[in-house]
Amino acid sequence: MNSVIECLVTRRSVREFTDKAISPDNLMQILEAALFAPSGMNMQSWHFSAVTNKTLIKSLAASIGREIRRSDYDFYQPAALIIPSNLPTNPLGKDDNACAIENIMIAAHSLGIGSVWINQLQGISFVPEIRSILTEMQVPTENEVYGIVALGYAKNANIPVPERKGQYVIL
Ligand SMILES: Cc1cc2nc3c(=O)[nH]c(=O)nc-3n(C[C@H](O)[C@H](O)[C@H](O)COP(=O)(O)O)c2cc1C
Repeated sequence: MNSVIECLVTRRSVREFTDKAISPDNLMQILEAALFAPSGMNMQSWHFSAVTNKTLIKSLAASIGREIRRSDYDFYQPAALIIPSNLPTNPLGKDDNACAIENIMIAAHSLGIGSVWINQLQGISFVPEIRSILTEMQVPTENEVYGIVALGYAKNANIPVPERKGQYVIL
């Protein structure tokens, strides 16, 4: 197995993080990897906000928590959030962002940084209270947010591998 495929198969969703911060250099490498994801018709109409400010992260979590009625909602208390966003007028924007998220998670894993996809902003990123925090996070006002990524160093080095149920054929 080559090192890229090893990185792909050993990545796990991390839902418990230590307090260790992610260095700006590592965040930049992860964001660069996001920019190199494929995009439909090469639109690249995405934007990425990387947020390490814990007050802002907590305030976004609390606001989402109010909207989805989960008072304990906290994105698993990550060291950083990456918020990809895209033009709602781009019909492939959500697909493009999903490709970028995979790049983010794989790049993070290659640097020893854990991550998990966070889906709760889907459909509520224009709710005014949430949008005002996203604007503080410099998400472009016209952009929609789909999945986002919570990142940090994993507390547990041995996360069980969920059973792989997908099937494939080679003809
Ligand atoms: C579209 C999508 C949405 C997801 N949403 C969440 C989420 O909101 N919260 C979460 O903890 N994990 C979320 N996940 C992570 C999945 O639960 C996880 O990938 C799956 O259980 C397999 O585990 P693995 O990533 O360790 O292989 C999401 C993954 C995808 C692809």
